Amino acid sequence: MEVVIVPDAKAGGEIIAEAMAALLRRKPDALLGVATGSTPLPVYEALAGKVRAGAVDASRARICQLDEYVGLPADHPESYRSTVLRQVVEPLGLTADSFMGPDGTAADVQAACEAYDRALSEAGGVDLQLLGIGTDGHIGFNEPCSSLASRTRIKTLTEQTRVDNARFFDGDIDQVPHHVITQGIGTILEARHLVLLATGEGKADAVAQSVEGPVAAVVPASALQLHPHATVVVDEAAASKLKLADYFRHTYTNKPTWQGL
Ligand code: F6R
Repeated sequence: MEVVIVPDAKAGGEIIAEAMAALLRRKPDALLGVATGSTPLPVYEALAGKVRAGAVDASRARICQLDEYVGLPADHPESYRSTVLRQVVEPLGLTADSFMGPDGTAADVQAACEAYDRALSEAGGVDLQLLGIGTDGHIGFNEPCSSLASRTRIKTLTEQTRVDNARFFDGDIDQVPHHVITQGIGTILEARHLVLLATGEGKADAVAQSVEGPVAAVVPASALQLHPHATVVVDEAAASKLKLADYFRHTYTNKPTWQGL
């Protein structure tokens, strides 16, 4: 996998937004998979800035969601549907028609999960999937020991993830749902390009285990090692426990040809 060490979160946002813009120039109706949480915000701000500046036309882009809380009304401000509409779809000048996600309010959750996997395939598959990483190494909401072949399904959040996410619910852990629908690791691995962004010291252990540790279900992000085109963008703090940091800096700055990410 390719590891890109950037000075800070803003630089990470810029480099990934440029990769998305380059994809949209090549394929205007590309399907972009987005993540929620704090980490990807600089990416969305940078991409929306490029659209406003006329540097890229995103009017035919399609956006899809990685995961969703189970049981939150779709219009709850912290549902991932609302979050992605507010942070990605609207700033890009798109409408909800360009957007797809799993139905966290479905009476038959399993059927909703299967329907979402089908919908992703019928849409031609995800061109670029942006990922964050949990402090426990999760991607999407595939918590430790998720099957590396898993499909979209319901998962139970760990206590650590609920603590981490309480900040989005007025700091009240009791408001954080226990269950989520998440694309499975097998589903995520079907995207053509995986781009994981991690910033801050709190992610340093998870990044080191994912990049330099063995592929293991106990560290779900280590599954990126199985993907032929996976890019991990980390700021200096998140890179601080990588033993091969100097090698990654060297290989990135000495690429034989510029290929974007
Ligand atoms: C949410 C998601 C999660 C987050 C992860 C990190 O859609 O995919 O895997 O990326 O929990 O969250 P932040 O960025 O808030 O630290």
